[in-house]
Amino acid sequence: MRNWYHSKFVPGLKTVIAHEAASFAVISAAVSILSPRVILETGTACCGLTLLLHESCPSASLYSFDSPHFNEVRWSGFREYGEKCAKKVREVGFVNKRVHFIKDDILLGDGNSDIISILTTPKYPKFVYFDNGNKEKEIELYSKYLEVGDIMGVHDWGKEVRLEKVKDHLAPFIEHPLNFFLIKENCTTRIFIKNDDQ
Ligand SMILES: C[S@@+](CC[C@H](N)C(=O)[O-])C[C@H]1O[C@@H](n2cnc3c(N)ncnc32)[C@H](O)[C@@H]1O
Repeated sequence: MRNWYHSKFVPGLKTVIAHEAASFAVISAAVSILSPRVILETGTACCGLTLLLHESCPSASLYSFDSPHFNEVRWSGFREYGEKCAKKVREVGFVNKRVHFIKDDILLGDGNSDIISILTTPKYPKFVYFDNGNKEKEIELYSKYLEVGDIMGVHDWGKEVRLEKVKDHLAPFIEHPLNFFLIKENCTTRIFIKNDDQ
């Protein structure tokens, strides 16, 4: 699904997020409440969620990863969605220089030195959101680097992410109270708080 996200700060600026519309306010609230110093997102696509994450905490350094082979037109299916919106967002959407786009294969694990170095740099708290092609694998590869108090969100819960496949990696996490609203609104985002450093 694709839903329009309207910028809170730049009049008339909008782009698409491939999420349920009801999840926008919930994800934004989770970020604002945490007020992270670092945000890491996988699956930039057309910069929709990137803009929402940035506008929810502009003071955070934000790192957004996507594949070097990503094609905005092919992904969105609509030229106006992909090329125009993403270009405009990159031009005028980010109110400071703290947003960084990195093209790399996210599934390299320890081979992805950028991700490991962002996650292991002692800057707390962090908000991490996984939305690329293999979310179970991302949880397996990267959740272990989070510190107590950091937050991990993931898309496509119950579809591409199955509890039985990730439950061992989620053991040090507790559910974020905002999951209540995500479940109530049939959204497939889930948010977890790291609660145990074991
Ligand atoms: C569902 S889209 C992301 C949607 C976006 N987060 C949003 O809400 O609008 C998934 C993205 O993951 C990227 N992706 C898939 N496999 C990847 C990989 N191995 N490394 C990096 N990016 C990957 C794709 O290029 C695509 O842009």
